Amino acid sequence: MASEGLLPRRIRVWSAGCSTEEEPFSVAMFLLDHFSVENWEIEILATDISSRALARAENGMWPIEKSAELPDHYRKSYMLKGTGTFANLMKAAPELRARVKFQRLNLNTDPYHPGKFDLILCCNVLIYFDADSKKRALERMIRHLTPTGYLMLGHAETLNGVTDHLRTVGPTIYTTPTNAAGTRIFDRSRFSVPRTACGPCGSRS
Ligand SMILES: C[S@@+](CC[C@H](N)C(=O)[O-])C[C@H]1O[C@@H](n2cnc3c(N)ncnc32)[C@H](O)[C@@H]1O
Repeated sequence: MASEGLLPRRIRVWSAGCSTEEEPFSVAMFLLDHFSVENWEIEILATDISSRALARAENGMWPIEKSAELPDHYRKSYMLKGTGTFANLMKAAPELRARVKFQRLNLNTDPYHPGKFDLILCCNVLIYFDADSKKRALERMIRHLTPTGYLMLGHAETLNGVTDHLRTVGPTIYTTPTNAAGTRIFDRSRFSVPRTACGPCGSRS
């Protein structure tokens, strides 16, 4: 709808319980690849309860051998190759990092970030919650979805019996009941980047 001029050309994604950098940077690469930065404002909020995981995530670094797991054009466009003593590392490029903001947030107790999101990823997080906390967290999250927004859970998770305020549009992908574009969704398999941590980098990988 935004591309038809009916909505602002802005995409906001919340990776809730991101753990480390893979999830938010995967989404950032996907969005930068599909939406021109001249025409679209792209913001990704990545939150987690673990300060340690966030500290590592903000580094946005991977061992260079993980580059083999990235599509070539993602690696060339969005990764910097380490030099000297960091030759064994690659790092997310500045244009990627500029679009991802990390913030510590306990989904059970903290106020949620203000504003609405076009996509909320909450993958493999609610499995740690009891039934009441899961319901409460989900109902709070739903209030942060745009009318055409999507919520994506982990592969093995379900909303069955937890809330009636969303409808299923794909395996563990949900949207608001009023979203007419409900089935025009992306392929979740594209949101996968290598796992791991590390130090400073320089040229394009
Ligand atoms: C298995 S990881 C999932 C990471 C990522 N979403 C993925 O699917 O690869 C679960 C994450 O949930 C976070 N988490 C657990 N309880 C949380 C809470 N109450 N609030 C926010 N994050 C929480 C953990 O710190 C951990 O990083």
